[in-house]
Amino acid sequence: MDRYQRFAKSGIGRLVVGRLGLPDPYPLRRFTPGQPLLAGPVLLGGTGRLVDPVAAVLEQVDVHREAVTGQEYAALVFDATGIDDTTRLREVHEFFHPVIRSLGPSGRVLVLGGGTGVAQRALEGFTRSVGKELKRGGTVQLVHVAEGAEDGIESTLRFLLSAKSAYVSGQVIRIGRATVEEPADWDRPLAGKVALVTGASRGIGASIAEVLGRDGAHVVCLDVPAQGGDLSEVANRVGGSSLQLDITAADAPARLVDHLTQRHGGVDVVVHNAGVLRDKTLGRMDSSRWDAVIAVNLTSQERINAALLGTNALRGNGRIIGVSSIAGIAGNAGQTNYATSKAGVIGVVEALTEEMAGRGSTVNAVAPGFIETAMTAGVPLMTREVGRRLNSLSQGGLPVDVAETIAWYAHPASTGVNGTVVRVCGQMLLGA
Ligand SMILES: NC(=O)c1ccc[n+]([C@@H]2O[C@H](COP(=O)([O-])OP(=O)(O)OC[C@H]3O[C@@H](n4cnc5c(N)ncnc54)[C@H](O)[C@@H]3O)[C@@H](O)[C@H]2O)c1
Repeated sequence: MDRYQRFAKSGIGRLVVGRLGLPDPYPLRRFTPGQPLLAGPVLLGGTGRLVDPVAAVLEQVDVHREAVTGQEYAALVFDATGIDDTTRLREVHEFFHPVIRSLGPSGRVLVLGGGTGVAQRALEGFTRSVGKELKRGGTVQLVHVAEGAEDGIESTLRFLLSAKSAYVSGQVIRIGRATVEEPADWDRPLAGKVALVTGASRGIGASIAEVLGRDGAHVVCLDVPAQGGDLSEVANRVGGSSLQLDITAADAPARLVDHLTQRHGGVDVVVHNAGVLRDKTLGRMDSSRWDAVIAVNLTSQERINAALLGTNALRGNGRIIGVSSIAGIAGNAGQTNYATSKAGVIGVVEALTEEMAGRGSTVNAVAPGFIETAMTAGVPLMTREVGRRLNSLSQGGLPVDVAETIAWYAHPASTGVNGTVVRVCGQMLLGA
């Protein structure tokens, strides 16, 4: 809990927050190993083609097909794939209206769509509004599942229903048809895989390394030589290895490919997390600030991707995962360089989607909003407070929230999730 959250939970704080209508951040349920998928029963509604596949995924969970009066639900899941006409949108209202107020703390709302048509598009306005109404850490997503992709939903459902998606809300996710690799052990889906994480010595990168290591991957932790000490600490902690390299160096892609192929026989998951800020308004921004940000945040990724794909160092069912930013979607004063680079990261996803699908692999990105790190702790107090509160959950996210989203993309059964940019922002108002 941050300071404001502690205040809002105190006796006097509760009164002030209530009277003034101030944001009331609710402590979010976050994942711990061994935790059950959901803290209570699920209500599953709708009559489309996903009801049975969803019920199969939720085999271990108490699933109700009819609402029980007085029951608090951990999740409300509605299969809207059958809604092919706007007059049938009332089925969404019919299902949610009587039960939405019985959603428990950190509850999950999932609307499952079929992808195309006017009525299906309309569902976006519904889910995004529900996200803004939910209290007590609730989240909502719209997941479109293509015809024939019904057997590829499990990793996505597990992620979105679990506490791993605590800070993801108001997103539209598409699952396409793909050959899905079922992990032998759902608790260690990356066992036997090799993952590369750039900028892994601290902050979000260190958390990504930890989560991918927890999921069973051998993590190659990369950072600049100046971060060598912290980097080996992280690598040791996650049972991985470290690689000191400046990703902007001319020979970096070739050295990286050599390292990964010679030491590990290739790589399965590549996470481009390294990033820098050099903020100034455009008129005050010299070319060195511009060049440094574009080189680290964008061009180096393109060069590394080209080298990995050109040499086939990235193995089958591989993953390329970028770290963009809300600034790359909404733009931000003082960040023309940074926002350009981060919009470019989305461009990388778009440019590679088809090629990656052809390889049975994927490329995706996360766009974090306000995440509590050393970087954001340095932001002036008022800007920081506004950044923290301007989202449906009224709080900043944690590095682990970004890391868990990346682990979902990295999951071997997430092959149907390709070309996606998911915001990890608590449904921030900026650029929404
Ligand atoms: N913190 C946030 O709120 C936030 C929000 C949106 C996006 N992001 C993005 O998330 C990523 C991680 O952010 P963070 O807050 O953990 O930042 P951070 O500054 O704590 O970590 C970035 C890491 O990248 C490394 N790095 C920088 N240049 C490098 C280079 N040339 N070669 C190799 N490594 C290099 C740094 O040494 C550092 O360890 C960045 O891409 C950032 O833009 C962060």
